[in-house]
Amino acid sequence: MTTGRTDARPPGTRAPAGWRVPAALIALSAVPVGAGAFRVTQLATGAPVTEDNARFLAAPLPVLLHIVGATVYCVLGAFQFAPGPRRRRPGLHRGAGRLVVLCGLTGALAGLWMSLTYPRPPGDGELLTGFRLLFGAAMAVAIVLGVVAARRRDLVRHRAWMIRGYAIAQGAGTQAVVIGLWMLVAGTPGEVGTALLMAAAWALNLAVAEWLVRGRPALLPSPHPRETR
Ligand code: HEM
Repeated sequence: MTTGRTDARPPGTRAPAGWRVPAALIALSAVPVGAGAFRVTQLATGAPVTEDNARFLAAPLPVLLHIVGATVYCVLGAFQFAPGPRRRRPGLHRGAGRLVVLCGLTGALAGLWMSLTYPRPPGDGELLTGFRLLFGAAMAVAIVLGVVAARRRDLVRHRAWMIRGYAIAQGAGTQAVVIGLWMLVAGTPGEVGTALLMAAAWALNLAVAEWLVRGRPALLPSPHPRETR
């Protein structure tokens, strides 16, 4: 089927489709990454205490660990999906992967820490705390299972668990889109509505991850023949 587009590049020189996936993933994480940069700047410059930031200023360590860990995980992790460097320089994929795993676990565990210890701001209910505990724990477990699979050289399972863990983290980006669209159409959601929308964004990401893992592996770089056992 023709799309009607012309491609001036000679055959075989098209930009690899695999680079579009990291670019899209970094774009998806732009809102939470930007919010994190704002919050870290506030903490570093000693902003005045408000109702919105009091819990972060009173106990900055978990939020700092969460923002730095989750940001590096989302941004550096996006490049782990690019097939070119992984095939040409597998050592780079492994080295970056160790940092990505460390940051992912730090981000997830600090998210659990905040869920358990921070006072809930207005608009965040018990249901949201429950969802955060569920998906934060699931993210950490998925990363650990991905590492265990890699150490066993089971690269098909490694890929599947890493995609799942990463999809949960990217829930932060999808939540920004879902809640932003909801606010445009229906106004600010209530406590339960916010929790359900956040959970729906995590579920949506996990459904896409499962679809990629099982149904449409061609959309993501499949393991190189030499990478499979
Ligand atoms: C399962 C994954 C995640 C969980 C369970 C989680 C959990 C949390 C929790 C409990 C808070 C404190 C909320 C509050 O007291 O207002 C928080 C804040 C935050 N999270 Fe996450 N988070 C996750 C993923 C991410 C990711 C991937 C990013 C960034 C790429 C991110 C960026 C932030 C930022 C920037 C804040 C501070 C918000 C503010 O300044 O008001 N989170 N997160």
